[in-house]
Amino acid sequence: MFRVIDTPAYRDAIRESSGDARLADEIVPLSFTTVPELERIADEMRLKPSERFIELACGLGGSGLWVAAKTGAFLTGIDFSAEAIRQASARAEALGLHGRAQFAVADMAQTGLPDSAFHGLMSIDAIPFVDATTVTAEIARLLRPGGNAVLTAFEAEAPRRPTVVPDYRPYFEDAGLIVRAHEEIANWEARHHSFYAAILARADRLRAEMGEVAEVLLEEAASPPPNRRVFIVATKP
Ligand SMILES: C[S@@+](CC[C@H](N)C(=O)[O-])C[C@H]1O[C@@H](n2cnc3c(N)ncnc32)[C@H](O)[C@@H]1O
Repeated sequence: MFRVIDTPAYRDAIRESSGDARLADEIVPLSFTTVPELERIADEMRLKPSERFIELACGLGGSGLWVAAKTGAFLTGIDFSAEAIRQASARAEALGLHGRAQFAVADMAQTGLPDSAFHGLMSIDAIPFVDATTVTAEIARLLRPGGNAVLTAFEAEAPRRPTVVPDYRPYFEDAGLIVRAHEEIANWEARHHSFYAAILARADRLRAEMGEVAEVLLEEAASPPPNRRVFIVATKP
């Protein structure tokens, strides 16, 4: 699916809808994230240099690498797309961060990584793709005591996708984590609208550059899901 997603028209859409060239060119998110949001994610994980953090469903790797560069911490990025992981590894190399970042193909609901391996965990717009009970248990298992999970996710009362839940708080609490923040992200609707409008305005270019992959993006842009976007911070006691 990610073979050709990072194309010039896609980057243009990010640049135009976010008004941020740095986001488009350095981070290349497959999500609605922004640079101020990444700053908050980096701060809320409360990492010391050389501590370890994991990004679940890291996509093309730019967000986690940006946080690794800002904090000095060591990143493990996982995603179940082998092509996304290949591009993330190449980006780490290009940024000179390959000594402090590693990427692997894995399922975020069952990473196979050791218990309590990470001081911090981040994930952007991805956990709603998997079962909420399973992924919050995996998050709790991966964190060391005192470690912080910082995520953005989607919630909906009448979701289109069965794994989207109306409220993540009980799932994190049942997994044994303390929810320190659970906030609707300011202006999320405007951000979604501007991104989808920028995608639809480039339909022909996206089809020419991405082929079939563009259809998934264009379908979502034409009929956005009824999801509000939330920011979550949860700590392992
Ligand atoms: C909306 S994208 C967000 C990517 C990235 N977090 C970002 O901000 O650019 C969702 C990501 O979830 C990944 N994904 C979906 N289901 C997954 C799973 N079960 N395990 C690991 N990654 C998964 C996709 O491959 C994709 O990279």
